[in-house]
Amino acid sequence: MMATRLVVVLVLLGAATAHPAPAYEEAAPTPRLKVSYYARSCPRAEHIVRHAVRSAVSANPGLGAGLIRMAFHDCFVQGCDASVLLDPTPANPRPEKLGPPNFPSLRGFDVVDAAKAALEKACPGVVSCSDVVQFAARDAAFFLSGARIYYRLPAGRFDGRVSLENETLAFLPPPFFNLSQLIGSFRAKGFGVDDLVVLSGAHTIGRSHCSSFSDRISTPPSDMNPALATLLKARCPASPNFTNDPTVVQDIFTPDRMDNQYYKNLLSRNVLFVSDAALMTSRQTARKVIENAVVPNRWERKYAKAMVKMSRLEIKTAANGEIRKNCRVLN
Ligand code: HEM
Ligand SMILES: *[C@@H]1O[C@H](CO)[C@@H](O)[C@H](O)[C@H]1NC(C)=O
Ligand SMILES: *[C@@H]1O[C@H](CO)[C@@H](O)[C@H](O)[C@H]1NC(C)=O
Repeated sequence: MMATRLVVVLVLLGAATAHPAPAYEEAAPTPRLKVSYYARSCPRAEHIVRHAVRSAVSANPGLGAGLIRMAFHDCFVQGCDASVLLDPTPANPRPEKLGPPNFPSLRGFDVVDAAKAALEKACPGVVSCSDVVQFAARDAAFFLSGARIYYRLPAGRFDGRVSLENETLAFLPPPFFNLSQLIGSFRAKGFGVDDLVVLSGAHTIGRSHCSSFSDRISTPPSDMNPALATLLKARCPASPNFTNDPTVVQDIFTPDRMDNQYYKNLLSRNVLFVSDAALMTSRQTARKVIENAVVPNRWERKYAKAMVKMSRLEIKTAANGEIRKNCRVLN
């Protein structure tokens, strides 16, 4: 299959939008998540996750980026319920994991498995995979930011039993979305323009496959820095496909550092995606970009807050969820 990933994404997006998802989700009743949720049932739980994330990130900072993206992709599809972790089975051959936004680019699954294995040894059947995903994203940000990003994370999520590939493109915005489309995707999950601008700042770390931005380098758009366009053209094939789709770093200046460089890159037009550049296409969002770029610590604080808010999306309870033993399969 030689079609580019972008074409596949476009085709599937067309299919998804033929049956549009409701623009506004029903507000779920606020579930009872608690900071230090495992203090009695598994006192070392957060420490165990942090240890697994520390080993992974020190070996490969990209895994930290993968874990942060994983938290987002989990929460925006069926809520923060570890639905993104489920492997295909005969009963459910097309789970979220195989959706175009996740396959083959989403990474960090082995880190979650390692943390979960250690947790099952210490306190079997107690800590949910969905909490592991959110703890891991929190800890990845802690290590990649040099301890500048830290937040207390309420926990007590249950793991979901539903995971459908077709819901990934319905809820996860693709990299070619413009500002109004991005605002629509975030609003559908209860997030405002400020959250969109703040959470997009996660693109200060990690990588992208060439296929995610090839639309912007075949004919360089006027909103990309020409030096970046030249660099990307040297690294990427003209038509990336499944067998030839290299990766490049998202932040060419501090690729492994979780900082506010993303916003400086927006100001110098050094970002990869249409969806990144889109943040400079309205006065309201451009002003927020400038604030995040110039006010020390502002973005880090807002990011922590927005991640906690995201971690509360559509939480499952004992009534409609479970504590999985193995994050990849239902109990
Ligand atoms: C605003 C809409 C967003 C779009 C359109 C978008 C799109 C993308 C795309 C296309 C990639 C590259 C995947 C690849 O080709 O390997 C990527 C990477 C990434 N995204 Fe986003 N994203 C968005 C928001 C977010 C949010 C809210 C977060 C987390 C808070 C996030 C975190 C990341 C991270 C950390 C990476 C690097 C992953 C890695 O290195 O494995 N993104 N994003
Ligand atoms: C996804 O597919 C399932 C059945 O396979 C269907 O019930 C559901 O409505 C679909 N969702 C979307 C967003 O297309
Ligand atoms: C964004 O794209 C949508 C769909 O193609 C279009 O209707 C809308 O006018 C565009 N908005 C902007 C601000 O370009």
